[in-house]
Amino acid sequence: MSREQTRIAVLVSGAGRGSNMQSIIDGCNSGQINGTVVLVIGTKEDAPATHRARTAGITTDTVSPKEFADTDLHDERMLQVLQEFRIDLVCLAGYMRLLGPKCVESYRNRIMNIHPALLPSFCGDGMFGHHVHEAVIARGVKISGATVHFVDEKYDTGPIIVQSIVAVEDDDTPDTLAARVLEVEHKAYPDAIAMFSEGRLEVDGLRVRIKEIIEG
Ligand code: GRF
Repeated sequence: MSREQTRIAVLVSGAGRGSNMQSIIDGCNSGQINGTVVLVIGTKEDAPATHRARTAGITTDTVSPKEFADTDLHDERMLQVLQEFRIDLVCLAGYMRLLGPKCVESYRNRIMNIHPALLPSFCGDGMFGHHVHEAVIARGVKISGATVHFVDEKYDTGPIIVQSIVAVEDDDTPDTLAARVLEVEHKAYPDAIAMFSEGRLEVDGLRVRIKEIIEG
């Protein structure tokens, strides 16, 4: 029996460029992911990522935290939009904010994020973008990479689904390292979503077990 297609919402914030969003769209179009990106939610109407989504024929919406009197109202509105579109999986792709408790609880183990380092290192509030790669280089670690994880109530602490590694070279700058990590992000994120869409991810506390595909 074939599985239903996973209805995916991608969330981007600020002036996100949306390269991970694009890798998810590509994964759906190629058939790697048994799903469709049905909605892209941004915090700004005119971000490159949402523009890119509209060009690809995907519905976009803006849920800007600034428009809400408090974080609870923002959380409620976000949940309402996700439910209106019957979203199965929420993918944060350059979404630099915490989702509220209502969204997290309603979508427990159905919200993913990608972080440009190997969790649980180099993460937490304020650790995003070039800050991550600067800290990685300053600490002198020899490997970095990307982590796809489920989202819980805090920054970067949810169950880890996929990690991909890259070497940190002696002459790396935050920019060169970011570019190398971004390449593996574009594979790791669709891979994790594809496994979700096949029902292969089993969450046990902080551990995510990947079930084999049983043919037939
Ligand atoms: C990526 O580096 C991702 O790891 C982080 O935000 C960045 C988004 O980049 N969460 P892009 O907009 O997908 O190109």
